[in-house]
Amino acid sequence: MSAAAIDADPAVRWTRDADLGARTSFRVPARAAWLVEVADADALPGVLADPRMDDGLLVFGGGSNLLFAGDFGGVALALTGDAVALNAHGDSDGDGETVIVRAEAGRGWHDFVLHTLAMGLSGLENLSLIPGTVGAAPIQNIGAYGVELDRRVHAVEAWDRERGAAVRLAAADCGFAYRDSRFKREPGRWVVTAVEFMLSRTSQLELGYAGLGAELAAMGLTAPTPAQVSDAVCRIRRRKLPDPALLGNAGSFFKNPIVSSAQADALLSGHPGLPCFDAGSPGMRKLSAAWLIEAAGWKGHRDGDAGVAPGHALVLVNHGDASGAELLALARRIAASVQARFGVALEPEPRIIGAHW
Ligand code: EPU
Repeated sequence: MSAAAIDADPAVRWTRDADLGARTSFRVPARAAWLVEVADADALPGVLADPRMDDGLLVFGGGSNLLFAGDFGGVALALTGDAVALNAHGDSDGDGETVIVRAEAGRGWHDFVLHTLAMGLSGLENLSLIPGTVGAAPIQNIGAYGVELDRRVHAVEAWDRERGAAVRLAAADCGFAYRDSRFKREPGRWVVTAVEFMLSRTSQLELGYAGLGAELAAMGLTAPTPAQVSDAVCRIRRRKLPDPALLGNAGSFFKNPIVSSAQADALLSGHPGLPCFDAGSPGMRKLSAAWLIEAAGWKGHRDGDAGVAPGHALVLVNHGDASGAELLALARRIAASVQARFGVALEPEPRIIGAHW
């Protein structure tokens, strides 16, 4: 008998002892006791009531923010619905300038960004080429080139396992912070089913991030369109960040550490080149983890097939046959050396399965 079980509901497909390795961007060996693919969010209550859920639930997006350090004994759930609709709830702001776009969780993120640009809408161009799905985007509050997702989110639709109900959370109720949200902090509770974005018909571009303006200038663009900003972001990312299709990785492996202003000032006096940013809260500063890791000598380092990208010190890469445990061991050595050298604790950005950081 094949591993895939025949199921009564055509929107639901269960696979026993599922190989998830190829579905993760790190492409390390990874298995789940079950994978359930759900094409229609209306089928979720039945799926979540299944006794197989008793062994644990892992909501699975594009697999681009996960590191499997061991197998998962429960159910990996992937929502595959990917429809996009404009003003799905009839809730435009009335002036025609702002548009609410709703996308189902299974839509590929970059594909969705391109779709909004093709519709003539701006707001997501700085977030081009980020791997993963729409449903995963609010969980870690993705961000790049001066724009964090939460600034564009109107509402998040989710199944609340605690209340056993479909809910629609306004952006203000999602607990968004830097690479963080209440969905991430309460991992067993929420299954994000769709995200609604507030986008604009006129271009209000964010070009302040270091490097983005320079890229546009190099492209000979002084008054870029949102699609051209997207192109510039793609060019920067392709140059700096390894393509997960070619070299397994999960983007930034560490978050940029947020420290007190006093600690930042002390570090800056000894290391004037350390990039230091506004952390969005008074008395705190955000440091560049990539700079700290590079200064500690790790950029391009390789332990067997587990390595640090030669082009960006924040990205761990699988050169071929690294296991998740090997990548995790390398990450721990990097964090320990940054702690010893700079007194700064690094925290991983991806979710680690089968081990604790
Ligand atoms: N830098 C180094 N060494 C390196 C790479 C960068 O010293 O190897 C320095 C750069 O010179 C620059 C600073 O670090 O001054 C910042 O570099 P970059 O612009 O590449 O951004 P980042 O802070 O390292 C963050 C996000 C990325 C996002 C970029 C661009 C986090 C954890 N990472 O990286 O997001 O693409 O900004 O906005 O916040 C991701 O989350 O997976 C991700 C790739």
